[in-house]
Amino acid sequence: MTSNIKNICCIGAGFVGGPTMTVMADRCPDLIFNVVDISEERISSWNQNDLSKLPIFEPGLKELIEKNRNKNLFFSTKLKNAIENADLIFISVNTPTKLIGLGAGKSSDLKWVEASAREVAKFSRGHTIVVEKSTLPVRTAEVIKKILYSSLEETSEKDVSFSVLSNPEFLAEGTAINDLENPDRILIGGDDKEAMLSLSRIYKKWVPDHKILLTNIWSSELAKLASNAFLAQRISSINSISTICEVTGADIREVGMAIGRDSRIGSKFLESGPGFGGSCFKKDILNLAYLAEYFGLEDIARYWEGVVNFNIWHQRRISKIIVEKLFGTISQKRIVILGFAFKANTNDTRESAAIKICKDLIEEGADLIIHDPKVTQNQIEKELKIKSLFNNSEETDLSPKNKLGQWRFSETYDVFDNAHAAVILTEWEDYKNIDWLVESKKMVRPAWIFDSRSIVNPQEVTNAGLNLWRLGDGSSKNKKNDF
Ligand SMILES: NC(=O)c1ccc[n+]([C@@H]2O[C@H](COP(=O)([O-])OP(=O)(O)OC[C@H]3O[C@@H](n4cnc5c(N)ncnc54)[C@H](O)[C@@H]3O)[C@@H](O)[C@H]2O)c1
Repeated sequence: MTSNIKNICCIGAGFVGGPTMTVMADRCPDLIFNVVDISEERISSWNQNDLSKLPIFEPGLKELIEKNRNKNLFFSTKLKNAIENADLIFISVNTPTKLIGLGAGKSSDLKWVEASAREVAKFSRGHTIVVEKSTLPVRTAEVIKKILYSSLEETSEKDVSFSVLSNPEFLAEGTAINDLENPDRILIGGDDKEAMLSLSRIYKKWVPDHKILLTNIWSSELAKLASNAFLAQRISSINSISTICEVTGADIREVGMAIGRDSRIGSKFLESGPGFGGSCFKKDILNLAYLAEYFGLEDIARYWEGVVNFNIWHQRRISKIIVEKLFGTISQKRIVILGFAFKANTNDTRESAAIKICKDLIEEGADLIIHDPKVTQNQIEKELKIKSLFNNSEETDLSPKNKLGQWRFSETYDVFDNAHAAVILTEWEDYKNIDWLVESKKMVRPAWIFDSRSIVNPQEVTNAGLNLWRLGDGSSKNKKNDF
């Protein structure tokens, strides 16, 4: 009944739905992929002729869109059509942390998943495999099944039936295309073996057999939450060690290298940075903690919440250090922010460390010039919830009446004039090539470079007469004259 899959629908054309279906369409030219979304704006961006205006920036994405769009890959707002014709439907909608009501601030808000399930229930025909691609709390499949089957009781159509599977997505933004083309594993959870095999046959077109894992549905849902919790915990762990490095004279780069040589630990994800961001880590850990709490496992909930709490503390720590180094006040001092995306090679700013750090600095009265090669001024405005006061061409108003700081956006790298400091928050390749000898001449002395990503060459910065602070660098402890 389920082996003959020809037509696939994906509900949600976001950071997961868009790239995932694009790679699938590329690898399965014999299947049709309809990616649908309620947002007309998002869909029209996916259908842009100008590929630099796609809603998502991912290396390699625009080339695949150019190759497959309108051949076997279609983006539209026509949910009804896409659902009616689909043999298999991925639900790939947003699942942010709930803001109000029961579980607010911790559990996932499932209203978009529920709405999608209701649409599927309303429009699907024949047998449909419904796949959870969104990251969901354990036992959500039960909710989806209930919604789907309760609709069956209302419908007169006798030939409608569903199989619900969990197939969480493990892509990382910035490397999404490569992650999708060469995944570490594909996880398929369910209790309908035939449906699971149908889905795995699609992946087998480009993923080796041994990487496709079949589990029960609850293990699959929990494995996704747990994977993100482990990754975030690792970032908090290395960042906590970087703090110890700074006070003891150790260096986090050396410590990280030494830790990573232990084959049980492995060398990846051991770089310290300004704290984890992105839409997933914080939300998924809080979700895990909420789940533990729900089952009365308070100690486990507190354990995982600690990872998130540390991350917040760590981001605040960076803003405090900047203020301290600039003689305890940054009021009306011009500070350049290099990078606003939560990591390099993405235009995603959700939960970016830059948001908290920039807000702190503005609150302290600084005049920020924010640069990011892929993030727009509008996007930064939305995240900071503070309007950019000046256009690129206008000068910053340094008059004393402006007690609160302000910010403006720069599209160019011409940002260092009269700056007291530059803060590197995203590890964009371009920032590695800044000529500090040239830029330092434009800055106010003594000027500081705060490198939270360990991407500058320390020698080049100090040779240019600039002070350098790097995360986890305790070398100043080893010198007699600090600064
Ligand atoms: N972003 C990541 O790196 C990543 C990685 C793995 C898993 N995930 C998970 O995947 C899911 C989606 O994440 P994302 O980053 O793609 O989110 P997103 O916000 O970028 O995209 C979700 C899309 O779903 C659409 N949508 C919401 N309700 C809809 C409905 N009823 N019908 C049609 N469209 C609807 C929204 O308009 C939006 O375009 C989340 O559960 C997330 O946790 C995300």
